[in-house]
Amino acid sequence: MSPDSPASSKMTGRIPGISRCLYSPRKMALARRMADTLVCRDMKLGVIGCGKMGGALVEGAIRSGAIPASQVRGCDSHAATADAFAAATGATLAPDIASLDADTFLLCTKPHHAAAALAALPAGDALLISVAAGLTTAWLESRVPAGVRVVRCMPNTPALIGKGAAAFCRGSAATAADTDAARLLLGSVGLAVELPESLMDAVTGLSGSGPAFVYIMIEAMADGGVRAGLPRADALKLAAQTVLGAAAMVLETGIHPAALKDMVASPGGTTIAGLAELEKHGMRSAFIEAVHAAARRSAELGAS
Ligand SMILES: NC(=O)c1ccc[n+]([C@@H]2O[C@H](COP(=O)([O-])OP(=O)(O)OC[C@H]3O[C@@H](n4cnc5c(N)ncnc54)[C@H](OP(=O)(O)O)[C@@H]3O)[C@@H](O)[C@H]2O)c1
Repeated sequence: MSPDSPASSKMTGRIPGISRCLYSPRKMALARRMADTLVCRDMKLGVIGCGKMGGALVEGAIRSGAIPASQVRGCDSHAATADAFAAATGATLAPDIASLDADTFLLCTKPHHAAAALAALPAGDALLISVAAGLTTAWLESRVPAGVRVVRCMPNTPALIGKGAAAFCRGSAATAADTDAARLLLGSVGLAVELPESLMDAVTGLSGSGPAFVYIMIEAMADGGVRAGLPRADALKLAAQTVLGAAAMVLETGIHPAALKDMVASPGGTTIAGLAELEKHGMRSAFIEAVHAAARRSAELGAS
């Protein structure tokens, strides 16, 4: 079996073809500075579900220096996933949730496994950080034992390569130190912002679902390149790097995207000709409606 085959990725919890090594020195330095001031130095982290998201978050947190591997313990119902997590992170393993011996639990099971996992949590003063999509703080709080505080997160798939965009919100009893802990963990694999829970569906529609919207855009731009004569492989690389570079321009210069667009659209030039086509085909409105539809769907799923 190839290490990147779907079956082997199920065994290890990894995504085929993805290695988690894209951590910029700038982000590492920032995370180290945050780690100096925040609470994770003393945290005992227990990871419930060591698959793709659990593995990515812990690997990011350890690589960034936010928490040493010696303070992380994981457990997973799938032995091969647990072993791959331990090998990749240097963390130790516990045979079950009750043996995690943690003050902070990171819930990284699929949402439909969460109730069973929470029922196994020990009672007492502890924090639960959940990344399970759609599970509200009220739902989590109704299932954790007394004394356990809750923070809910919505990460996205680029977190798996250290380029995530995540939001988190606090439960009714969560403290500032609890949200610092969530910010540090999520921030070690990308951007992390705190928002009110009422906006989590909007986050799901934008950064949660957004990678798929951008993949389509990259694929379509590459098709345009092929139509204009480029070899397929080069077109795909050029399209993806163009999206990466444009996103970095927005984030690193702080210049509004409309101003950046104006800077590259010279009178009578090629870019304005392309932009006119995009406007003719309603591209702007298509993105607005896509994010809105995904947010509405998230709310519907949360209510059901
Ligand atoms: N992957 C993403 O990009 C992404 C993005 C946003 C949010 N999330 C959220 O992250 C969570 C995890 O997703 P994932 O993609 O990392 O899933 P995953 O790779 O399937 O990992 C979840 C792991 O948890 C294990 N598990 C289930 N019940 C358990 C229990 N009671 N105790 C210990 N381990 C248990 C599963 O084992 P079995 O396979 O044996 O059940 C599996 O190995 C989900 O709730 C998802 O909504 C993920």
